[in-house]
Amino acid sequence: MERKKVTITDLQQKKHDGKKITILTAYDDPMARLVDEAGIDSILVGDSLGMVVMGLDSTVPVTMDEMIHHAKAVRRGTKYAFFIGDMPFGSYQISKEEAIRNAMRFMKEAGCEAVKLEGGYEAVEVTEAIVNAGIPVLGHIGLTPQTMSKLGGFKVQGKDAEAAKKLIDQAIMLEKAGSFGIVLECVPDLVAKMITEKLTIPTISCGGGKYCDGQVLVTNDMVGLFDRFTPKFVKRYVNLSHAILEGFKKYKEEVEEGVFPDEAHSFTIKEDELKKLKAKHRR
Ligand code: KIV
Repeated sequence: MERKKVTITDLQQKKHDGKKITILTAYDDPMARLVDEAGIDSILVGDSLGMVVMGLDSTVPVTMDEMIHHAKAVRRGTKYAFFIGDMPFGSYQISKEEAIRNAMRFMKEAGCEAVKLEGGYEAVEVTEAIVNAGIPVLGHIGLTPQTMSKLGGFKVQGKDAEAAKKLIDQAIMLEKAGSFGIVLECVPDLVAKMITEKLTIPTISCGGGKYCDGQVLVTNDMVGLFDRFTPKFVKRYVNLSHAILEGFKKYKEEVEEGVFPDEAHSFTIKEDELKKLKAKHRR
């Protein structure tokens, strides 16, 4: 059967049909191609870019220009997956106008089909404004890395009844504001289950357990390309760092020992041409 481009309707239909949604991040063309080829439903150009690609300690310094630069590359490698751009810190908090302008940049310059933004109560109005401008928005509540200092670090959110009730309220408000889905990051699984059952839009777990309608992971975490720390909810499916390091060491060894390049990886000149060259050189 010919593969079809994934749309928002397909994602929502999956919730309706009880089928799980899969999302992975990508920051460049080669990784996007692999994610897309694997049949993942959606690719997110996450602002996790700052930590897993740019070597920063948090996502806070990531700029709109950096996000657009990477999103353009990911676009080139994305054929089927639904394509989402993550709005970086400072790109949607100043005013609704600025938020719409930045969300538009993702759509017009990078070919995104939706944007994601972090925040609960404080993100309701801006979500509504961006949705009204014709741009689909994926919400993100629970642990919101852009405001980590406010939350007191990488901590599970909604652990007591009062905090969990707030998460449920925020999810309902974001749904009413027009979000097409909501990421639940670092939330107890049974709280995520309650939210999932209350909403008609899909919930996407990022450390929110198995009851959500879908899962998202930072690709570099799950393929072992980021090991400064590994959150409890990340499962490492393959260790690319190990394979790459072995390759680099082997290359160094072979170059130093004269094993590489061998004949198979070199170009030759025909014998008669070589003779002519030597004759000319002698003169
Ligand atoms: O920035 C990111 O990659 C994210 C996902 C982890 C949801 O926000």
